[in-house]
Amino acid sequence: MKIAVIGTGYVGLVSGTCFADSGNYVTCVDIDEQKVEQLRDGEVPIYEPGLEAIFSRGIREGRLTFTTKMKKAVKEADIVFLCLPTPPGGDGQADLSAVMKVAGQLGSLLEDYTVIVNKSTVPVGTGDRVHEAVADNADEQLFDVVSNPEFLREGAAVDDFMYPERVVIGTESERAAEIMTTLYEPFVRSGNPIIVMDRRSSELTKYAANAMLATKITFMNEIANICERVGANVDNVRRGVGTDSRIGKRFLFAGIGYGGSCFPKDVQAIHYTAGQNGYDFKILDSVMKVNEAQKVSIVDKMEKYYGTDDFEGKTFGMWGLSFKPETDDIREAPALYIAEELVKRGAKLIGYDPEAIGTFRQATSQAVLDKMEFVHDQQDALEDIDALIICTEWNEFRRPTVDRFQDHMKQPVIFDGRNLYDLDRARKAGITYISVGRPAVN
Ligand code: UGA
Repeated sequence: MKIAVIGTGYVGLVSGTCFADSGNYVTCVDIDEQKVEQLRDGEVPIYEPGLEAIFSRGIREGRLTFTTKMKKAVKEADIVFLCLPTPPGGDGQADLSAVMKVAGQLGSLLEDYTVIVNKSTVPVGTGDRVHEAVADNADEQLFDVVSNPEFLREGAAVDDFMYPERVVIGTESERAAEIMTTLYEPFVRSGNPIIVMDRRSSELTKYAANAMLATKITFMNEIANICERVGANVDNVRRGVGTDSRIGKRFLFAGIGYGGSCFPKDVQAIHYTAGQNGYDFKILDSVMKVNEAQKVSIVDKMEKYYGTDDFEGKTFGMWGLSFKPETDDIREAPALYIAEELVKRGAKLIGYDPEAIGTFRQATSQAVLDKMEFVHDQQDALEDIDALIICTEWNEFRRPTVDRFQDHMKQPVIFDGRNLYDLDRARKAGITYISVGRPAVN
C-alpha cells in the first residue's frame, strides 16, 4: 500500500518506518525542512532501540522517503496517517491546532478514495471535527476518517509496533475498516486481535488504557507508602497480588511516580473531558495528586535520614535522569523535580545517564545547572558523594560491584527510587539502603 505519514515526531517516525519495513511504500511529511534533510541523510533524530536498522533499510530499499511537500504525498496515498503533536493546552485539554490545520488542507488534495487515520492521542469527538474540516473541501465519498490509537512504549516502540497485543480501529465505514485490517494483518499473525469499533470508543480507549495504567502504578505507590509505615515489603505484596490473573503481574512496580509525555498528559486530559461532560472523575484527581507527591517522596526520605532540610555542603550523585530506561526523554521525569528540590535545599549534584544528559540539561532550570555537574561514566558520579540517588532503572545500574560504592563514596548511602537491589545483599555489603515500600537497611 501507499502511505503518507504527516508528522515525523516519535509516533510518525516509528509508524512510518515500521510500515515501510513490512513492505509498504511510505512517504513521511514534515514542515521542518532541516529535519527532513536530516532524515533523508539517514539520521534518526530520536533514540529508540532497533529503529535505526530498519530505518536505514527502508531508505536503502526505496520504501521510506521524506518530503516537505504534503500535496504529492497525499495525492499518491491510499492511507494518510496524521501523527501530529497534541500538547496539553492551557486548560488541561489537548491542543488540536496542528491536527486541525492539516485536516483543513487535506480535502483539496484528495483525488481518489483515501483513508485518513488519526494516530495522535486526541479528545473524543476529534474524528468528527477532522471529518468536517476535510469535507469542507472534498466530496464525502472520497474519504473516511478513522481513529487508530497507538499503544507504543518509548524504548520498546519498534517491538510494540511490530508485535502489538491488539490493534484498535475506530470507524463506522466498512470500506475503511477493510483497508485498515489488510494493512495491519501482517502485524498480528500470532493471533492477537484487530478490534474494529466506533470511532468515539476508539478515541476513548487510548485515554482509558493510559489512565488505568497510571492508576495501577499509583495504587501500588500508595501500597508502598503504607508498607513503609507498617513494616511490610511492597515486593512481596506485589508478588502476592500480581499472581491473581485478574490483576496481572505487570505495571505493579512501585517507584518515584510515573512520568513521560503520555501518562501525565492523558490522565489530565481525560479528567478534563469528564469534567466538560458533567462528570467528576474523582479517582484521577487522586492519581494526579499522589503522583506529584511521589515524585519527590525520596527527598522527604533524605530529610528524615539527615534530620534536616538543609543540605548545604552535601553532594549527591544521581543515576538516571530520563523518565524511564532506554530513552533520552526527560519529560515529567522525577529526576527533574528531585534535582530542583535538592538544589533548593543547598545540595550539589553530580548527574549521570547513559542517554539523557543533553535533554536533561536543556530542560532543567539555571538554578540546577549552577549546582549540577554531569559525568559520562556511572562511576564518576560516585566520587566523594554523600549519597547516591537512583532515579531510573537502566540495566547498567542493576549489577554494580559493591566495592564501587564503598571505595568511591564518602559513605555508602543509597536512596533508590526504583528498588534495584536486594535488601539482604545491601545489608551484607554494609550499605545504607533506603528504597520504596521496603524496610530501610541501615
Ligand atoms: C505509555 C504506555 O505504556 C503506552 O502503551 C502508550 O502508547 C504511551 O504511554 C503513549 O500514550 O504514547 P510510555 O510513556 O512510553 O508508554 O512509558 P511506560 O513504559 O508505560 O512507563 C510510563 C511511566 O510509568 C514511567 O515513568 C515508568 O517509570 C512508570 N512505571 C511503569 C512505574 O512506575 N511502574 C511500573 O510498574 C511501570
